[in-house]
Amino acid sequence: MSNLLTLSGNRTNLIFRTDSGMPELVHWGKQIKDLTGIEAMLDKPVPQAGLDQMIPLTLAAESGRGLFCAAGIQGHRQGLDWSPIFTIVDVLESEQAIEFVCEDARAGLKLNIEVSVDPKTEIYTWQAHVTNTKSEGYQLDHLAITLPIAGHLDQLRSFGGRWCQEFREHSSLLEHGAIRIESRHGRTSHQKSPFWFVGDRTVNNNQGEVFGFHLAWSGNHSLNFEVTSDGRHLLQIGELLFPGEITLEQGETYSTPKLYAGYSPSGMNQVSQSFHQHIRHNILKWPVEKPRPVILNTWEGIYFDHDPEYIMQMARKSAELGVERFVLDDGWFEGRDNEYTALGDWYLDKKKYPNGLEPLIDTVKDAGMEFGIWLEPEMINPDSNLYRKHPDWVMKVEGYEPPLGRYQHVLNLQIPEAFDYIFERIDELLTRYDIDYVKWDMNRQLVQAAHQNKPGFSGQNYAFYRLIEKVRNAHPSVEIESCASGGGRVDMGVMEYTHRFWTSDCNDALERVSIQNGFSYFFPPEVMGAHIGADEAHTTQRKHKTMFRALVALFGHMGLELDPVKSTEQELSEIKEFVALHKTLRPLIHDTSSRFYRLDITTDDCLVGWMIQSGDKQDCVIAFFQTAMPRFAVPTRVTLPQLDSSQNYQVEVLLKEQEIGYAMKHEPEWMQQPETVSGDWLTTQGLQLPIMYPETGLLLRLSSAKS
Ligand code: DGJ
Repeated sequence: MSNLLTLSGNRTNLIFRTDSGMPELVHWGKQIKDLTGIEAMLDKPVPQAGLDQMIPLTLAAESGRGLFCAAGIQGHRQGLDWSPIFTIVDVLESEQAIEFVCEDARAGLKLNIEVSVDPKTEIYTWQAHVTNTKSEGYQLDHLAITLPIAGHLDQLRSFGGRWCQEFREHSSLLEHGAIRIESRHGRTSHQKSPFWFVGDRTVNNNQGEVFGFHLAWSGNHSLNFEVTSDGRHLLQIGELLFPGEITLEQGETYSTPKLYAGYSPSGMNQVSQSFHQHIRHNILKWPVEKPRPVILNTWEGIYFDHDPEYIMQMARKSAELGVERFVLDDGWFEGRDNEYTALGDWYLDKKKYPNGLEPLIDTVKDAGMEFGIWLEPEMINPDSNLYRKHPDWVMKVEGYEPPLGRYQHVLNLQIPEAFDYIFERIDELLTRYDIDYVKWDMNRQLVQAAHQNKPGFSGQNYAFYRLIEKVRNAHPSVEIESCASGGGRVDMGVMEYTHRFWTSDCNDALERVSIQNGFSYFFPPEVMGAHIGADEAHTTQRKHKTMFRALVALFGHMGLELDPVKSTEQELSEIKEFVALHKTLRPLIHDTSSRFYRLDITTDDCLVGWMIQSGDKQDCVIAFFQTAMPRFAVPTRVTLPQLDSSQNYQVEVLLKEQEIGYAMKHEPEWMQQPETVSGDWLTTQGLQLPIMYPETGLLLRLSSAKS
């Protein structure tokens, strides 16, 4: 066996050495084709006062070798077999994948490490599997592949915030020890999103060397970014397990969630585009490929106040606005009059809907719209018939009472009867009614979540995947939205079964700019639920004009989160125009060959720019948002290096909130009528922006003009 193995995409590759008996990743990045002399170059000096040989940093980072970092595999067998050292016993190679089959027979463990590359997207997929080969049970505490990271890449960018403030960006420098980020919320979480960038200190959207990582998992997770005292940087990302959570009996295997990774020598936009393409080509499974229908969701319009006559009025009004899918949110099922009751009782509330759901569904369909419905299958309220019948279906450790979250407990889907009951309820609902779409919600974090008194976090997440998959298989034409109090379950694990995310419960356009900006690093616009909310945002009480609210919602999968019956005629006519505009731009915004760019505007951190460009670079839309008072009296130019410098572009203002007035005496000439400008200028010097009031936006279209 040669000591060097490579796995190549189109522009990047991985090089492994195996002479220590275990795989070590010695290169990942710009493709190196000529391996001449590499082995000699890999030889490292051995310092005094340490171990007498250089210890290889293998993909398993075994502590038993003499590595003083976190071990890639942690576990034991009643205190034994706690320090395995693996050896490769086989390597399975194909053009786009390598699998290392490794074993420590003495410790009774087999470890398989797989990596594959998709040359279309340049995304690498990593996964490890550990199998217990001995008769006594093996208690696994942690498993993560160890990826060495070049020393100059010491900046970690992580994402997370809280309810109504998802995907906030955080930067940390790794100088000493380790940076550890853990999510113990039992779901993907608002707090710690499983997406990260590791890059050099110059990284922004268009420059700098950077890797992006995403753990495709909707449960607990951890990241360890560590530097050893001999200067080696390493990254370990995996599922976070609670004590006793995984015991492998003989022959049993534990597999890590898939870790997706992308690389760019020139900034984060390129990595984002790789992830967007990966989702589009390898993860999303549309029942039918069609334009993403504009949605009206009833939640903020009526909350629990369900009157079918009124809702039918909302539906008719929605259709007049151009809405294409009408979604009935929480409050439709038996006894669900408020947040305290009825989760688990998935039967139509006959008091609210004495004539059934059919009249509403017929109204929606007659108006030419699809019909969607809200569900929260994984939950149970103590005040519900289900709980009164099956209090033992709650996830908890006997003898303890877990705290309620939104007045609800978690239903243990690992109990077969509970799983079957929930599936039967959903199946009956989707069979009986003509439902096109499910908003699948999940509104609490998991605490002491046990199955048979042992930690049941991982098992619950797998049971959830099984349930949603079974629903998908039984009703393949139904699309599903992943929601968890907004963006608490946004990840590529759940994306295998779903088609859209409810990005945030915050419909305040100003907050949405940063939330959606964070979301865009990993997910493409067509899966980002973005709704025009009421003029006064419910979660912040901030007020914004329709144009700003619409402009922010335009670059996603657009919808409305308001009551059209109560809106003024003026607001309705504005919304109608924006819905129509979205539909005009939708083919460009959602096209699988289009590219999304975050624009770097370093002279004003309160100015955010997004650009979507067609695959052939002939057409693009650009939105700018001034989120607070501009830093300077006159904004600088924004260069657009993404354009084709050899073309001319017609630059046209589609929407503007700026006008001659208190802030601006003269508007740049190009804004007054469509102007043809050379790509050479735009890519080098760029656009002179107008003076924008805080909390306003600007929408431009640039299309290739014949020179
Ligand atoms: C939380 C969701 O994020 C909201 O959009 C709404 O569906 C409520 N749950 C309903 O309870």
